[in-house]
Amino acid sequence: MMKKTVLLLTLLGTVMTTEAQVAPAIPRDAKIEAQVEKTLSKMSLDEKVGQMCELDINSFGRRDAQGKFVIDEAKLDEIIRVYKVGSILNAPGTMAASLEEWQEIIGKIQKLSMKEIGIPCIYGVDQNHGVTYTLGGTLFPQNLSVAASFNKELPYEAAKITAYETKAGSCPWTYSPTLDLGRDPRWPRIWENYGEDCYMNAVMGSQAVRGFQGDDPNHVGKNSVAVSLKHFLGYGAPFTGKDRTPAYISTQDLREKQFAAYEAAIKAGALTVMVNSASVNGVPVHASKEWLTGWLKEGLNWDGMIVTDWADINNLYQREKVAKDKKDAIRIAINAGIDMSMDPYSTDFCTLLKELVQEGKVPMSRVDDAVRRVLRLKYRLNLFEKPTYKIKDYPLFGSKQHADVALHAAEESMVLLKNKNAILPLQKGKKILVAGPNANNMRCLNGGWSYTWQGHLADRFAGAYNTILEAMQNKFGKENVVYEPGVTYVPEGKYWEENKPEIEKVVEAAKGVDVVMVCIGENSYCETPGNLTDLTLSENQRNLVKALAKVGKPIVMILSEGRPRLIADIEPLAAAVVDIILPGNYGGDALANLLAGDVNFSGRLPFTYPREINSLNNYDYKVSEEVGTMEGAYDYDAKVSLQWPFGFGLSYTTFDYSNLRVDKQSFKAGDVLKVSVDVKNTGSVKGKDAVLLYSSDLMASIVPDNKRLRAFDKIELAPGESKTVSFNLKAEDLAFVGYDGRWRLEEGEFELKVGKLKQKVNCTETKVFK
Ligand code: BGC
Repeated sequence: MMKKTVLLLTLLGTVMTTEAQVAPAIPRDAKIEAQVEKTLSKMSLDEKVGQMCELDINSFGRRDAQGKFVIDEAKLDEIIRVYKVGSILNAPGTMAASLEEWQEIIGKIQKLSMKEIGIPCIYGVDQNHGVTYTLGGTLFPQNLSVAASFNKELPYEAAKITAYETKAGSCPWTYSPTLDLGRDPRWPRIWENYGEDCYMNAVMGSQAVRGFQGDDPNHVGKNSVAVSLKHFLGYGAPFTGKDRTPAYISTQDLREKQFAAYEAAIKAGALTVMVNSASVNGVPVHASKEWLTGWLKEGLNWDGMIVTDWADINNLYQREKVAKDKKDAIRIAINAGIDMSMDPYSTDFCTLLKELVQEGKVPMSRVDDAVRRVLRLKYRLNLFEKPTYKIKDYPLFGSKQHADVALHAAEESMVLLKNKNAILPLQKGKKILVAGPNANNMRCLNGGWSYTWQGHLADRFAGAYNTILEAMQNKFGKENVVYEPGVTYVPEGKYWEENKPEIEKVVEAAKGVDVVMVCIGENSYCETPGNLTDLTLSENQRNLVKALAKVGKPIVMILSEGRPRLIADIEPLAAAVVDIILPGNYGGDALANLLAGDVNFSGRLPFTYPREINSLNNYDYKVSEEVGTMEGAYDYDAKVSLQWPFGFGLSYTTFDYSNLRVDKQSFKAGDVLKVSVDVKNTGSVKGKDAVLLYSSDLMASIVPDNKRLRAFDKIELAPGESKTVSFNLKAEDLAFVGYDGRWRLEEGEFELKVGKLKQKVNCTETKVFK
């Protein structure tokens, strides 16, 4: 481990340790450090505050009637020459741009920055599931889908390609990956992260970091970009379920679960972090010195850069009411540890921060520390020597090679949830009705952050790709596939806007086919516009399924949705259910391949699919969230009622687990447990299986979690083939954060589980650490 620990005391079988010194999360490069110091020593205060300011490109340009992005040259000149602004973000016209357009815009900004400041600009863009904002590039499944693949290679591959295609436009920085734990399915940003589990987010997020940045964070190469982990900390569990509203999270959970993915991704080399817009336990995260400076910078000995989210310093006084005005808000945020303010429309930040320094309200040392972090990032990205790149050096941009990875990722991410009487794969030659509002558009396959923020124009930009309907026609023959949607969305409208249903038409069409495929779920949305008032799937869509069920033909229900919408009343009406989540531009083709049986299903749910609105448990709920009948008069009957559990997913084949074994029956801190299980493909087709290792702490000093995912691995097996899957589980990984905020591995029994197999192991000594 990176941390040196000092033994404090051994008392009654309890070993207590504390950290003495934390090794740097990213090893320092002496040459870069010297360059940073040299540049910093020559900078004026104006230049320093300018480097801490980030503006939206749309604050000094707009698209004209012909769609060309026109920069207001005088404004740009003022921003760079007068205010010395060091960073610009966002897509021109908040819409995907061509590589040529990106090159032209970033080229112009860099030329002026080098001439007027002598320091390159760092341009940042949300390339959230592939190149959101670059026309003709590759779009992958959204992160929630990537998580559903349980394949650790996919986030790495997707990020590597995304970095390459981003750099082809000369952009060196992306606001990705998103590591918020999606703990509340009502929240509109559930699909942006890797699901509800902290271990999953830590593993997939770290892989994405390596994919984006390459292996050496001090020297980010020509094909790589810097990441921004977002949104630190505790963003994904708002009490109201609405975006950017307060979360109330126990100190244990915050440290043990919410922090875990950030810690892992920072240790994987992440260069920047973006902050949660909202508050946790009453403290706006942008104002928290404890979390920003204490946990992230000092706690991890991390020398990276912290950027605010959109206008969030302003929000400290406008929304959160913890500051009296903008200047006060800047004082609080910068002193808490913010290094760069995404303002995004005004240079006031520069003027006010300068005043604060002159008045002694923000120490010069804090400004120097922030600017060092910004400069270090720019040197690590080699921007001083190479502020721009050339399109011709990126011949694989939007290539078939990249498309194949995206298609494969989509195939591995779709989750087969039900397959009564083996209705799937669909037999060739059968007549299929394709119905539902999600059947014939690209918008529903991609979700938000697709060509635009809300993803609402995807059908204008992604016409070259196949919708579900088109892919089904290609696969099963046009003559066999009938289309009648029954329910449609308002084109380019708000995500919840549906047209008047045409139920009779679709019922009529169903009478003439063998199978009804109903594609339902959600339209695209992002952030606050995706808030909802009812988690239940829309009434029109549920009525559509109910009407179709009356016809009596088997129903294959395809869900494409950014969060699990409640479907308890219609699920029993379907013979098969597939959740394709948000699979991206190749989602239609992937689904057709799977439904035809050309490829096998191997996805599993990375979230708990709830059945009832008052049972929104996560899979790692506290054991006492489920209380059965007590002796005597009381029937507490607190049941965890799920549609489908976390980790659930079927296949066209069956896998048998046997011989779960652990190399030690008892262990203590410092030990590594080798856990093995034999897996056999007992069906008749080839398949991939994600093998999941869970643990349960059977008794602890605070209420233990029901179970926790500790490791997973995906393997492929031919029919009849067996493999042994082994995991090395560190004893410390079984620890939890106790009532006092410290990590505890407690003596007593743990249960290790793979599938239905269980093994008990015994921890012989309690250790308290960190
Ligand atoms: C979002 C971030 C995003 C930023 C910049 C904000 O509204 O919360 O996820 O990175 O805008 O576009």
